[in-house]
Amino acid sequence: MEFIKVTEQKEPFIALIELNRPKELNALNKQLMEEVRDALQVLDKNEKVRVIIITGNEQAFAAGADIKQMADKSAIEMLLVDQFSTWDQIRKTKKPIIAAVSGFALGGGCEFAMTCDMIIASETAKFGQPEIKIGTIPGAGGTQRLTRAIGKAKSMELILTGRFLSAEEAHFYGLVNKVVPKEMYMHEAIELAKEIAQLSPVAVQLAKEAVNRSYETHLDEGLAFERKNFYLTFASEDQKEGMQAFVEKRKADFKGR
Ligand code: CAA
Repeated sequence: MEFIKVTEQKEPFIALIELNRPKELNALNKQLMEEVRDALQVLDKNEKVRVIIITGNEQAFAAGADIKQMADKSAIEMLLVDQFSTWDQIRKTKKPIIAAVSGFALGGGCEFAMTCDMIIASETAKFGQPEIKIGTIPGAGGTQRLTRAIGKAKSMELILTGRFLSAEEAHFYGLVNKVVPKEMYMHEAIELAKEIAQLSPVAVQLAKEAVNRSYETHLDEGLAFERKNFYLTFASEDQKEGMQAFVEKRKADFKGR
């Protein structure tokens, strides 16, 4: 891996992926995204991993897709390179992913953070879709995910002007889960991951899938999907253990089966 660093057991059951192109502010070139995809596919199958954290460095989560790699491409070259099929595979990760964001999360960087399931932000974080300033528009889901996350008016403003959102504003508009001082954002992401990692991985996976379905469908279909996954948890040992532990007033021991 040239552009990312993977730690399989940052804490028990918690894996960490660090984007590692610091000189380019973690600009997301094709190889970097392929490395992230490959790492996620391995971690998704690793029974010792229940939650994945993705982070950059203090200065940048990621400052966008790699502009230098795209600048001279024709529309047909972009179509044939098909860089976003990698993103589609990343989106299929079954385990929960927390983005721990400090500094710039711009363009593809903001889209990548939004592709994750939750975002913990340092108070220095800056979010935005500045593609309009370089004569293009978001291509990795920004117009869709930002609009669903923060609503049409604000999303339209950010995407049409290229303005940035501060961490505080991002929290106000519901884009991020929590904002903490710079020294604390990794700690906070790990605490959130630990809380989820104690729970039934089977139920967590089915819950993530059902929440994501709310994005993709109308209410009737979403409710039916949720119900199916709810019933499916009753096929797991974890559901029996969780409910039995509640009845017996003890802590549940979830095994992921
Ligand atoms: N692609 C390639 N290289 C990038 C980059 C990007 N998205 N963002 C930063 N870099 C590089 C810079 O070119 C510079 O490299 P050199 O030292 O070789 O010149 C290095 O990273 C440091 O950047 P700056 O000197 O510009 O740092 P700064 O602190 O002055 O500014 C910044 C920081 C405001 C983030 C500025 O770098 C910037 O505006 N970056 C581009 C942001 C952007 O437009 N992102 C959207 C990209 S398009 C996209 O993402 C499409 C999509 O939807 C998938």
